[in-house]
Amino acid sequence: MRSEFSQLWQKVVVESERAREVVSKHAHVTPLNPSSTLSRIAGGKVFLKYENLQKTGSFKVRGALYKVSQQIGRVKGVVAASAGNHAQGVAYASSAFGLRSVIVMPETASISKIEATKSYGAEVVLHGRVFDEAMLKALEIAKERGYEFVPAFDDVSVIAGQGTVGWELLEQADLDLVVVPVGGGGLIAGIAAVMKRFKPSVKVIGVEAEAAPKMTASLKAGRPVSIDPKPSVADGLLTKRPGELTFAIASELVDEMVTVDEEEISQAIYFLLERKKALTEGAGAVGVAALLAGKLKLEGKRSAIVLSGGNIDLTVLNKILIRGLSRAGKIVRLVGQVPDYSGQLKRVLDIVASKRANVLDVLHDRVDLSLPPWHAKVVLLLEVPSVAVAEEIVRELEKDGYSFSLERGPRE
Ligand SMILES: Cc1ncc(COP(=O)(O)O)c(C=O)c1O
Repeated sequence: MRSEFSQLWQKVVVESERAREVVSKHAHVTPLNPSSTLSRIAGGKVFLKYENLQKTGSFKVRGALYKVSQQIGRVKGVVAASAGNHAQGVAYASSAFGLRSVIVMPETASISKIEATKSYGAEVVLHGRVFDEAMLKALEIAKERGYEFVPAFDDVSVIAGQGTVGWELLEQADLDLVVVPVGGGGLIAGIAAVMKRFKPSVKVIGVEAEAAPKMTASLKAGRPVSIDPKPSVADGLLTKRPGELTFAIASELVDEMVTVDEEEISQAIYFLLERKKALTEGAGAVGVAALLAGKLKLEGKRSAIVLSGGNIDLTVLNKILIRGLSRAGKIVRLVGQVPDYSGQLKRVLDIVASKRANVLDVLHDRVDLSLPPWHAKVVLLLEVPSVAVAEEIVRELEKDGYSFSLERGPRE
């Protein structure tokens, strides 16, 4: 254990105790509830920490509240660069303390994120095509206006604010293990510092998207290293490099890192919505993704998985739901051909309707050259109660002389 890191650890714990007072006044103590389904899968007791129900939809508001609270009386406003949850956290926190906030977002930021950030009272400045350009602009504005810059993760106060999740976990259950999503590392550093200080036996496991495994790579290298993040449904975790402080704490206190791929994250979002009625964004679902993918060893343990946020774009959610329904056999595709005479498509659709399947889409292609002459290719996208019903439809179609095959699962 290296002493300078231990000092940093202790500092975070002391600051985090102060942060508790501020955070508890302006944010929720989020529920920690047991999940019987996940407990069964894990072979231990699994709790979920619902930070997706936090004010602004993610834990990020905790660090923002503590950092911004320290600026009261010092400056008139704060500046941050973010196209995600940090933006909303800082906007909310500055409104709570009567300070101005400027949030710089890349020009590519989604309209829904811009609107959400404005709705919390921030002035939004769109600048640059990538995050780094927005960041430089934010530092420039901070200097010009004399505002304080609020970093997204590499700052003792921000880490301490995120550490308030750790205090709550210590009070809510007697845990052996905690599973935490990792972007720049602020959340895991805060939780690990607080929990290990008071319960050293607690294991802390970090989860990253395979698209941006910067903490995994850095811990392996023994120093913070930069990676080139790929696009991911877990956009909150797409940081290039861990922070110096977050890396230092993680290298001292994090027991294990795990990565999950895009399919695993999507399935976890679907699972949480269907089984737990919990809406999570990709970054918020990676812990459950790791468990469902069999990448965590939780047998006989009492574990908490942090659902760190719920701000998912509804168009992304729509795609995930369709893939999930398709995988579950509730949306199927029937592919076949019919003679190209009038009334043929209607006969096919009548058979489909007789089995109470719902038609989502129809393709009727008469120019596909792979077909025999005077035939049309037909692709039906159907909503069905079960695969058995879809199979029954195929049999009924066969009886009428039509040849169709059933395709399940998402088309890649
Ligand atoms: C929902 C969500 N989870 C996890 C993270 C990662 O947090 P950190 O950067 O503190 O590791 C973020 C970061 O924005 C986030 O928005």
